[in-house]
Amino acid sequence: MALSDYPRHPLTFGPSPVHRLDRLSHHLGGPRIWAKREDVSSGLAFGGNKTRKLEYLVPDILASVADTLVSIGGYQSNHTRQVAAVAAHLGLKAVLVQERWVDWDDPGNARVGNIELSRIMGADVRLDDAGFDIGIRPSWEAALADVEEAGGTAYPIPAGASEHHLGGLGFANWAHEVVAQEAELGVFFDTVVVCTVTGSTHAGMIAGFAEIEEAGGRPRRVIGIDASATLDQTRDQVRRIATHTAGLLELGRELREDEVTVLPGWEGPAYGIPDESTVEAIRTVGRLEGVILDPVYEGKSMAGLIDLVGDGTIGADSTVLYAHLGGQLALNAYSAIFD
Ligand SMILES: Cc1ncc(COP(=O)(O)O)c(C=O)c1O
Repeated sequence: MALSDYPRHPLTFGPSPVHRLDRLSHHLGGPRIWAKREDVSSGLAFGGNKTRKLEYLVPDILASVADTLVSIGGYQSNHTRQVAAVAAHLGLKAVLVQERWVDWDDPGNARVGNIELSRIMGADVRLDDAGFDIGIRPSWEAALADVEEAGGTAYPIPAGASEHHLGGLGFANWAHEVVAQEAELGVFFDTVVVCTVTGSTHAGMIAGFAEIEEAGGRPRRVIGIDASATLDQTRDQVRRIATHTAGLLELGRELREDEVTVLPGWEGPAYGIPDESTVEAIRTVGRLEGVILDPVYEGKSMAGLIDLVGDGTIGADSTVLYAHLGGQLALNAYSAIFD
């Protein structure tokens, strides 16, 4: 099956916008840098990368008899906020397990930003003390069982929708969208930079670009910047989901080693905790471009991009596409770092 054979329920306004970051490019003094903006491409609770993944889950949800979406993330999970929005949009219930993934003392951590929006949208938000882990969690399995015991029918959506069998398709579609936008704009992005944690955003891109390459498209590199601080687990998950998604798309070959690149170095001391490079990247892009990044994900991938330009890994002749995946709502729980 090709990607176009998988049903997709649009949750976005259309292709996410692509635009130049001229002042950042000038500041870094080398490659031309552009951004593709998942943070401004949907009307559902500020959107983000999960909205795009969920476009391929919704037909499966609607074909089931489920009345409750059950998902999981940290207190400030962007993913669970997007699940809550999609549940509201479809007229379903949402049960969200929100674990203490980040040891972060901001008094608003479990009240403001993402979690506040999930509550506004009517989700049943359940706080749990467990720490960070991108794997399948007992708290989530317990929530699934709870829904069934109460007479409901649960539809399970794992963290980041990544372990879902259709979780990689949204960003395979992103790859196709990029190729169409390149044709319109008369540009070729030889390098894509993306933040990776639960893995299916990056994995979907890998599968999608591999499919495009097999059909005669120009090869390019996709550089994943780890923000999980559990590098091996994230790298394994990216490879596994990319391989699975490539299988769904009947790629017909193994993925090459060089197609799965997840780089460490900008993850900070732990998932959800920024370091100086994260904060500096947020300030730089805010001041030069008026574009807002967050301290959990995109600040880290932008710190990676800046350093990779600095050390020449991304050459001066490159044209780079920075995947902006959303995440700004979490800034509400990080006000102290910009005091
Ligand atoms: C804003 C933002 N950027 C990047 C990511 C990483 O995406 P993924 O979990 O698919 O690796 C996430 C979610 O985890 C996110 O919410």
